[in-house]
Amino acid sequence: MKKNLGKSICMFSGKGGVGKTFLTMCLAGVYETIGKKVLILDFDLSSGGIAVSLNKEYEKTIYNLVDDYTNNRFKNFLDYVTVYDEFISFLPSPKDPRQASKIDSKYLEIALSKAVLHYDVVLVDTTHILNETNLVLLDSVDNILFLMENDPMDLKNMKSLLSIFRDLEKNNYKILLNNSRDPFKKYFTLFDMKSVLKENIDYVLSSEFYLKNIDTYLMNGKIVTLEPKAINVFNKDVTTMMKVCLDLIGGEDEKN
Ligand SMILES: Nc1ncnc2c1ncn2[C@@H]1O[C@H](COP(=O)(O)OP(=O)(O)O)[C@@H](O)[C@H]1O
Ligand SMILES: [Mg+2]
Repeated sequence: MKKNLGKSICMFSGKGGVGKTFLTMCLAGVYETIGKKVLILDFDLSSGGIAVSLNKEYEKTIYNLVDDYTNNRFKNFLDYVTVYDEFISFLPSPKDPRQASKIDSKYLEIALSKAVLHYDVVLVDTTHILNETNLVLLDSVDNILFLMENDPMDLKNMKSLLSIFRDLEKNNYKILLNNSRDPFKKYFTLFDMKSVLKENIDYVLSSEFYLKNIDTYLMNGKIVTLEPKAINVFNKDVTTMMKVCLDLIGGEDEKN
């Protein structure tokens, strides 16, 4: 019997530091709460932070997978992933950043195609750079979540990114304005931002989701959206994240 393939989702942004890695983990937690098996692929190859943030020891990384694949030693995709809990696993970025440059992007596509055979949802964390790796990824995933912040530089970056997507006639993305990363950034109104982008902004994470004690979660490898107390306090933003999660795996995943 043919198995249903999982949905692959790439986090992307016009600049670094907008909260991609943190949100990747939050979304993984939300998927867990609805019983989805999730794999996080850390394709921020030279400075990935997923394994550190989940505070888990790990043996193998995407580098080992690619190395084995190219040397005909690859057997089972699951040999390379590290289990976080019953629902969430991750494939870490290379231990040595120099290994990043040795990974040909075509193998990331292969890794992705194997990952969706085993998980309901595959979340791909990336860098913001439009390099070969990310272009291949953006082209291969089912859906893309663009993150942006409310500042002039990011608005400019996002505008150029979206115009590239329009030129390529790609419309499998949603846009999330992240006001939680830095609650003091509020240069524009939502209306102004939408006018500049000539696009809808699909979701907004509020400044109330700014976590003063974020490092406590990260140091302990805790996922905020799996902590009952936090879910309660940040109810509004957890609800927004649930909507993001459902939209990204649901049928209505394309811009009209
Ligand atoms: N909601 C939040 N509250 C507090 N700090 C945050 C929040 N989201 C992200 N951060 C912090 O902002 C920084 C950048 O976030 P990160 O997820 O690493 O961004 P990116 O992956 O896009 O580069 C990190 O230090 C992270 O811990
Ligand atoms: Mg990151």
